[in-house]
Amino acid sequence: MRIPSTFIDDLLARIDIIDVVQNHVPLKKSGKDYSGCCPFHKEKTPSFTVSQAKQFYYCFGCGASGNAVGFLMAHDHLSFVETVETLAQQAGIEIPYEQSPQHQQKKQVQKSLYDLLGNVSKFYQHRLKIDKSAVDYLKARGLTGEICKMYGVGYAPDAWDALLTQFPQDTKGLRQTGMLVQKENSERHYDRFRGRIMFPIRDKRGRVIAFGGRVIKDEQPKYLNSPETTLFHKGGEVYGLYEVLRQNTKPTQLVVVEGYMDVIALAQHGVTNAVASLGTALAAQNLSKLFNIVPEVVLCFDGDNAGRSAALRAVDNSLPILTDGKQLKLLFLPDGEDPDSLIRKEGKENFSKRISQSLNLSSMIMEHLLDQVDVSSVDGRARLVELAKQYLNKISSKIYQTLMLEELARYTRLDVQRLHNMLLQSENVVKPVRSSQQKSLCEHAIMLLLKKPVLVSLFEVGKDFLALKDVKAGLLVSLVQQLKNKEPLNVGQILGIWQDESEAKMLAALAAQPCILSEEEIEEELKDTVCQLVKQLREVDIGGLLAKARKQGLTGLSEAEREQIRDYLAQSDN
Ligand code: UTP
Ligand code: MN
Repeated sequence: MRIPSTFIDDLLARIDIIDVVQNHVPLKKSGKDYSGCCPFHKEKTPSFTVSQAKQFYYCFGCGASGNAVGFLMAHDHLSFVETVETLAQQAGIEIPYEQSPQHQQKKQVQKSLYDLLGNVSKFYQHRLKIDKSAVDYLKARGLTGEICKMYGVGYAPDAWDALLTQFPQDTKGLRQTGMLVQKENSERHYDRFRGRIMFPIRDKRGRVIAFGGRVIKDEQPKYLNSPETTLFHKGGEVYGLYEVLRQNTKPTQLVVVEGYMDVIALAQHGVTNAVASLGTALAAQNLSKLFNIVPEVVLCFDGDNAGRSAALRAVDNSLPILTDGKQLKLLFLPDGEDPDSLIRKEGKENFSKRISQSLNLSSMIMEHLLDQVDVSSVDGRARLVELAKQYLNKISSKIYQTLMLEELARYTRLDVQRLHNMLLQSENVVKPVRSSQQKSLCEHAIMLLLKKPVLVSLFEVGKDFLALKDVKAGLLVSLVQQLKNKEPLNVGQILGIWQDESEAKMLAALAAQPCILSEEEIEEELKDTVCQLVKQLREVDIGGLLAKARKQGLTGLSEAEREQIRDYLAQSDN
């Protein structure tokens, strides 16, 4: 199923970036452009500019930039397809998917299922308003109407046929979304959720995809969840993420708790970055989704033995997906408490303090290992090294490996380097995963140049990167030429120059890439990149010379060329 590229152009022509941005960021007209406070970094004075003429945004503070699609992708953490679908829906245009009629039909069915669950959720919310016992229950648990509204909390009436009666045309849809249960040995159905407080589970786009329901009387099971359906895949979702992102589009940390009520109670008390794993342990898939959004995830566990072993399982699952820059922390709660009970008891301040003091992953592993050995004996220390090995070899983050080695060195009284050699040079070490989408060197240089065009001065004139086997070399060379020819240009202007060419798209995509480097770091990084490019170029040159020498013998080379080879060989020694 593909969205045709011509459609994207049509879509971009039909929408106005000003509207798209203004939905999320208050903008003021200033001159030809609009400006406001950048949603991608914290600032008090506006340095975020949106150009209507260019249909492009740019932040002078953090360098974020892009078109309407790029803005929404970054702002709402959506994929490209999700973004295009959202924009098309807002603009009221159908996407002409390139797909078979069966696919189209499936998509249509899915859409009607989303709509149905949205309506079911509204119905439950409405029923909450008129059911006193449900309202009393929520009040008794300390929740205000406001917070319940934000989370779309509702109530499923205590009847076998509330949904069947309310949505008589949608029996099939209700079945497909798991809202009905089939009677044994019969074709008949009844409501799955009865007499329960209902928590809608929403995807990142805010569409209801499933429900969790809690009894208000003392019945079993206490919680009931929607089954897996075409809309709901438990491994891919966490509860409350949509609501967190609605409060803060760029959170730096997420706290993962166990229950629906924990998330809402935390939000009620001002801790607005909590999400819940649905059901049991957080799958690695969930976790890597969270790490796409934030650099730090704190997992909450009970302080008892079950909590400890759940934490160890989570650690095990997460080691391979923890890359550098991602931090996993663990928070153990006092015995018998959950986040809901705790924050009600001790308030936001104290709870936040606990979060900030949560345990580092490497300390957690060390604690666990130290429990199993006696480090006062040589044998114990040797065993500690053995035990640590299995963890170290699963860690794909260099930083974590180093941290652990340092801690291990402390306890074993061995040298870090020696431990490193002993433990990490065996063949089964997991090599840090190189992203398969790694940029080429030229591409990287372009990205950096777009972040800070004045740095073009770092490029010498006449360096012919075209000789490099890099598909982006041509683009880099013309960009450098453009920038050297003209007065200083900003990104908007640069993209203006390429407006009608296919390269414009590529440049826009590169410009829109987030960049975590500071101004000085961009300069350092570009210097380094230029050095590497020059080095590659030299290698290409030398490669050519060596080939020539092989064909024609050294005498076929000029004195200057031979000098070049000698120079090169001398350099590559060090
Ligand atoms: P808990 O039993 O710890 O409940 O379940 P809780 O969140 O503290 O609930 P309250 O405070 O009594 O309302 C934690 C989570 O485990 C899942 C639910 O997601 C729940 O939020 N669970 C629990 C179920 O799916 N089914 C159950 O029967 C119990
Ligand atoms: Mn609880």
